[in-house]
Amino acid sequence: MYILGLAGLLIDGAACVVDAQGRVVVAVEEERPTRVKHASIRFSGGLPYRSLDLCLKTAGLSWKDIGHVGYFFEPWRELRRMCGFRFRKAWRAPHVAAYYAAYQLDCLRGHLAVPRMLSLQKGYGAEFHYLSHHLAHAASAFYVSPYDSAAILVMDAMSERESISFFHGEGTQIKLIKRHDFPHSWGFLYSLFTQYLGFRPNSDEYKVMGLAAYGKPTFLAEITRMIRLQPTGEPKLDWSYFDPAFRGPAYFSRKFYQTFGPPRERDEPVTERHQNLAASIQRALEVSALTLAEDLHGLTGSTRLCVAGGVGLNCLMNSRLLLESPFSEVFVPPGPHDAGCAMGAALLVAHQQLQRPRGHAMSTAGLGPEYSDAEIRATLEACKVSFSHSAHIEEDVADLIARGQIVGWFQGRMEWGPRALGYRSILADPTRPEMRDRVNAIIKYREDFRPFAPAVLAEAATDYFLDIKESPFMLFVARARPEQAAKIPSVLHVDGTARLQTVDQAVNPKFWRLIRAFADRRGVPMVLNTSFNVQGEPIVAAPRDALRCFFASGLDALAIGDYLLRKPTV
Ligand SMILES: [Fe+2]
Repeated sequence: MYILGLAGLLIDGAACVVDAQGRVVVAVEEERPTRVKHASIRFSGGLPYRSLDLCLKTAGLSWKDIGHVGYFFEPWRELRRMCGFRFRKAWRAPHVAAYYAAYQLDCLRGHLAVPRMLSLQKGYGAEFHYLSHHLAHAASAFYVSPYDSAAILVMDAMSERESISFFHGEGTQIKLIKRHDFPHSWGFLYSLFTQYLGFRPNSDEYKVMGLAAYGKPTFLAEITRMIRLQPTGEPKLDWSYFDPAFRGPAYFSRKFYQTFGPPRERDEPVTERHQNLAASIQRALEVSALTLAEDLHGLTGSTRLCVAGGVGLNCLMNSRLLLESPFSEVFVPPGPHDAGCAMGAALLVAHQQLQRPRGHAMSTAGLGPEYSDAEIRATLEACKVSFSHSAHIEEDVADLIARGQIVGWFQGRMEWGPRALGYRSILADPTRPEMRDRVNAIIKYREDFRPFAPAVLAEAATDYFLDIKESPFMLFVARARPEQAAKIPSVLHVDGTARLQTVDQAVNPKFWRLIRAFADRRGVPMVLNTSFNVQGEPIVAAPRDALRCFFASGLDALAIGDYLLRKPTV
């Protein structure tokens, strides 16, 4: 008997399979097989069909093997919340309230259609469970953490009602401790600022985080006033800064623009004001999160913290929680965002409902599909590309990177979560100062203020970085040791920090051997590691995606399984 988890009606659709022992068997985000970023259940026509198929195929299962389905949302609860909130605002603009009511009913229809659509699958006869969204987030972190007992902080844009929740996990049980409801939401506010600064909301929040390092938090006092930061850390929005009917997509009032200035257009140059605004909203989030953590620590007495929800992708916040909060250990799973709720929902059914014991802690994000050398070779031959077989692919790739080439690295099981962690990565030499601009110019086509990350051998991380000992899922930042900073210019941000990934030999031996081989050549035990995609596309999933990205970009070489492809000009 297996348990299927599903998530992401409107954004970040995903599927996950957990076995009867409570172990994660496979997890895939819908965006990877559909090749559309943040593809949702709705985008795919009512179910995350492609990730579902990929999960069943990877696990070698059919529909009749699925005994239970955990779904990431309780739709009726949301309808009550939205109707109540919108009705309170309706006297300001009844047509806006009517629009949102119709929208919510449409969402409700989408949620209710999922079990009906599943029942149309041949051989399907599973029990369906609607589960609380924040509880699914909490489960996605706690059940795969190494902790028997921990406090859990969930922060996202919105769920059925809550936007910030405190939980306490003990063994197989997770209990709600406290909640703060929408619209007083950090995820929502950060997305609004992302849009206001000229980036795409629910997608480009990490750009605001990257931009923050360039600015000073000169707007912190104004933002603190706007969010009316409470003594226990939660925001309580001052409505005078927002549209009276709380109408999207901007949601702001004239007072907001008078205070913070006009919004930035998407193609407008980034100015010092934009940098300062980014630094201010980032600082306000960190201050709020640290205060929330104190409150959570006081309520639970725990010294261990799990973080989940989309705000958990904010690695600056995570690092401050680790270094400055009362918690001595912090765990953030590789998929803390909404897609992660597919895993959380399946694990909730396994542990809370079926009382199965917990499986092992998650050490790897390599939980997606894998392609054998025979499958890869068949694709290469079908595409009529020239390639060679390598008996020592790690050594050959280390040679290429050390010579200044940029290499696509497609190996093993695809990553779960938005970070490339050495399974679907683009790799380059971190010691060359020009590499950051080269990777940006010929492959990533992205803003020059965004940093690249280092993947460093776990045992050597503290030789190069301060404060952080491990960061296997690239969700913490660390300061480079001053004496080492000059050696790794292309992976350090303007403030001397890096969003590092620590690579453990036992977890990803092939990637570890590659970095070790590179260290033998250049004396530095790390490589520049960025996701294997071009801007605007999801990370590559299958060999054909890797070939498309290789030939449609300035990549110099591609290491796919044990096969090596090189451009004719290099
Ligand atoms: Fe969420």
